[in-house]
Amino acid sequence: MRPYVIIVSEVSVDGKLTLYRGASSKELMTLMDQEAYRYLHEARAKVDGIMVGCETVRTDNPSLTVRYVEGKNPTRIIPCSTANVPLDANIFSKDAPTLIVTTKRAPGEKLQKIRALGAEVMVVGEDLVDFDKLLPALYERGIKSLMVEGGASINWEFIKRGYVDEIRLIHLPVIVGGENVPTLVGGEGFKSLKNLLHLRLRSNFKKGKHLITEWEVVR
Ligand SMILES: NC(=O)c1ccc[n+]([C@@H]2O[C@H](COP(=O)([O-])OP(=O)(O)OC[C@H]3O[C@@H](n4cnc5c(N)ncnc54)[C@H](OP(=O)(O)O)[C@@H]3O)[C@@H](O)[C@H]2O)c1
Repeated sequence: MRPYVIIVSEVSVDGKLTLYRGASSKELMTLMDQEAYRYLHEARAKVDGIMVGCETVRTDNPSLTVRYVEGKNPTRIIPCSTANVPLDANIFSKDAPTLIVTTKRAPGEKLQKIRALGAEVMVVGEDLVDFDKLLPALYERGIKSLMVEGGASINWEFIKRGYVDEIRLIHLPVIVGGENVPTLVGGEGFKSLKNLLHLRLRSNFKKGKHLITEWEVVR
């Protein structure tokens, strides 16, 4: 068993996640209406866990809490193979539980410092975090629904394994452009028509100036 997984992302009309490779997406998100933020935070409040990749923690320093609506904060889950996450990162704030998922490559001393901040550490994998083992383990500990908020690499890790049930997109009405700018899904890509992930549009509506699209994965 694994959690029900929803990828939620803000993307430009050309599918970009940020302004340029290495840029914090927070700058692009300044274009987002309050209504769209409320939609995002309502989704956060309905799940047990929320995940972003370690690179997103390093570049965006997100809090991953529910602030624009009333509701509970999900457990923050960060896959980070060497636990290379800044100790002053916002994900260590006291207002929600945090779980750093790492591998045998992580230095024990760093793990101790993370635990001292009140976060939990789970070692799952040798080289990279092993999602095949992690997802059942999360389910076991009560994370029955998981929202994945990027970035491109983590989205691909879930998609390539078929571990995604829904995708919800907040479309920013802008074009960013640029060949090397991260898009919704990174990784090596499916490359062949027969391997593509197929989606069915469940709903589309507007929040402020944003189009929201909600997609179900077709099995
Ligand atoms: N628009 C949006 O909604 C949105 C949302 C999130 C992020 N972003 C943007 O996306 C960009 C970051 O995306 P990203 O693709 O570079 O990074 P990412 O997906 O956030 O994180 C990838 C990192 O996760 C760690 N990791 C641990 N186990 C892994 C595994 N099994 N497979 C893959 N990675 C694993 C690796 O870091 P270690 O080597 O340290 O383990 C890897 O570099 C930023 O520019 C951010 O602003 C945008």
